[in-house]
Amino acid sequence: MNKLVNLELKGNIVYLNFEHSKYFVKVINNDLVQIAQIEAIDYKSYAIDNDISVEVDIKIEDNVILFDNKKIVVNDEFLLEIYEDNILVSKDKINDFCNEREQNELLELEGHSVQDNDHYKFMVSKILNDNDYIYGLGDKTGFLNKRCYEYINWNSDLPQPQVDSFKSLYKSIPFFMVKGNKTYGIFLDNTYKSVFNFGEFKKDSLYFGSTDGLLNYYFFFGDMKKIIASYTTLTGRCPLPQRRFLGYHQCRWSYYTKEEVLELVGNCEKYNIPLEFVHLDIDYMEKYKVFTTSDERFPNIEQMIEELKAKGVKIICIIDPGVKAEEEYFVYEEGLENGYFATQNGEVYHNAVWPGDSVFPQFTLSSTRKWWGGLTKKLTDIGVAGIWNDMNEPASFNGPLPLDVEFKADDRMMYHKEVHNIYGHLMAEATYKGIKENTGLRPFVITRACYAGSQKYTTAWTGDNHSIWAHLEMAIPQVANLGMSGMPFVGTDIGGFGSDTTKELLIRWVQLGIFSPLCRNHSAAGTRRQEPWTFDDETARIYSKFIHLRYKLIPYIYDLFVEHDRTGLPVNRPLVLNYPNDENTFNLNDEFMLGNNILVAPIVKVGQTRRMVYLPEGKWVCYDSHKVYEGNQYIIVEAKLDECPIFIKYNSIIPTYSNTNIENPSEIVFECYGDNGEYKHYQDNGLDFNYQKGEYNIYKVTFNGNESNVELAYNGYEKYKSIKVKLVK
Ligand code: GLC
Repeated sequence: MNKLVNLELKGNIVYLNFEHSKYFVKVINNDLVQIAQIEAIDYKSYAIDNDISVEVDIKIEDNVILFDNKKIVVNDEFLLEIYEDNILVSKDKINDFCNEREQNELLELEGHSVQDNDHYKFMVSKILNDNDYIYGLGDKTGFLNKRCYEYINWNSDLPQPQVDSFKSLYKSIPFFMVKGNKTYGIFLDNTYKSVFNFGEFKKDSLYFGSTDGLLNYYFFFGDMKKIIASYTTLTGRCPLPQRRFLGYHQCRWSYYTKEEVLELVGNCEKYNIPLEFVHLDIDYMEKYKVFTTSDERFPNIEQMIEELKAKGVKIICIIDPGVKAEEEYFVYEEGLENGYFATQNGEVYHNAVWPGDSVFPQFTLSSTRKWWGGLTKKLTDIGVAGIWNDMNEPASFNGPLPLDVEFKADDRMMYHKEVHNIYGHLMAEATYKGIKENTGLRPFVITRACYAGSQKYTTAWTGDNHSIWAHLEMAIPQVANLGMSGMPFVGTDIGGFGSDTTKELLIRWVQLGIFSPLCRNHSAAGTRRQEPWTFDDETARIYSKFIHLRYKLIPYIYDLFVEHDRTGLPVNRPLVLNYPNDENTFNLNDEFMLGNNILVAPIVKVGQTRRMVYLPEGKWVCYDSHKVYEGNQYIIVEAKLDECPIFIKYNSIIPTYSNTNIENPSEIVFECYGDNGEYKHYQDNGLDFNYQKGEYNIYKVTFNGNESNVELAYNGYEKYKSIKVKLVK
């Protein structure tokens, strides 16, 4: 028995003194507390940059902590009851974790994979009520609502088709929300392998815990929007991207030669597919050596980049963390000389990745990050527009990195078991800061692995999905849950990465993909080509139609990034976030919204040309037919291969571009739906950080019947040459 001795208040920290251990509750603001073991008091978080605490009036009465309308009752055994307005929000339980895994050895004999055989150093268990739904946890497989599943945070490169039963994926974002009679959020700031069991075995309890490190979590009060705002205030928000990054990205492993890239760009022109970026996969390098380019396949790459620039297309290059261990290779030599690589028993640690024998930068060290960031200059100096960070779980081909591989940090030695889940995060940070310093522009980094807070530095894609319908379906909850976990700038590989896609799957995927914040088609070496014209003219025509729609909506999407910057809300939202009181949305896996005004119900099933769509309260205008539907009902809509069901909220305004020059848009058209409405539109140069000095415009648009008005509510930047209002009837 661990009896509570007393509570002690010092500043905004309440010390919980038990007979055998000490914990603390730090009241950060009225809606957020940190709950941790005493050793976490000086923990330097990898997700949180600053202490955001504000002054709060806190009182202690016996075993109760009181502040604002909140009350935390501390019981023996460190069992907490948390109340808001005297209503129970969350109640800890005596640990009763299930151990159903005693048969593991037998299971493994038959070849079943046993994913969780770990010993957890601590667990927190909480009561789950029947009507609780769980969202968040980043990119995990499965459905929108995570209830009844168990997940493991351990960044994993899993090229096989990932299905609902996969517990880990590429990212570890230990943040989730429990939506019930009262909603709350939890962020477990622990980078070691962690488990999140959301009532998989016992329906009335959830538990989370880590294999090592400290019990250290944050508890958020409020509704889901408020919790996301608070979580992104704590861990940071995605900075406003360059507007062009919202355009279309084309990728393939690999476009092997300069000729192939030029041909690709020519085909995009020919088939009228607007294109901003071509991503160069590993074969642009010499022997997969990072920060080199192949003279054989890309002779005079600088000139190619110039040539493409004239066509309005830019290049993004992949950079993996594995550095080829080869004498006289400058990255290897510099790293060795300065102690930038991870070690084991004091010797530089080797494993294999694409270049063969490789070593791994210790991004935990600020000097390594600075060096790596500086290396990006090799690419930005020749005009490369962004960097794609891959294999940064870190992935390795000679078995996983042992848990005791040493990563020096500025103030201590860390080991792989602690660093694993933040390796991609730190790599992205180094890359982002490097590009920013070199160019002064808003950097583009795309990563596969990340941790909580990575949104400050990078966009992300969901890794190696497959060209299967199940993965098209899964794209919706994946992007939605990433958004609700603080990462708004994400997308899936359009068409699917592994396996061969089909015409129908590619078309249905692009219809969904144009509504993902990141819009990139990518496919694996050895799979069927995935550029639309490689099927037939019809595919190219439909693909072109939808990419044009994407470009038309870019000012709206860009406005949503501005909104994210201010509120933390994601760009792509599950309906439950916008309609939290509507039960029909809680498990809705096959629809989503872009902001508050556009609802998308893509076709995600093979052969389907009509589907059921749930429309929440209010009225909705079908984007194609302009037919108005009453909300609060399910409707059946037709969607032939070249159609995607899109609904605009009645009484809303959508800003649109009338051409594809998103770098310098000269005209804006405000499309008005319904009887009346208002909207605020933001405009800046879409490129650098001058907006932070006030160089932007805000337009306030209103309409009522046939009357409309556009007013410049704030003027700090050159206005559009042409501003139009279109009343959509
Ligand atoms: C990994 C990446 C994939 C990339 C490939 C080759 O599988 O996830 O996107 O194309 O490596 O670099």
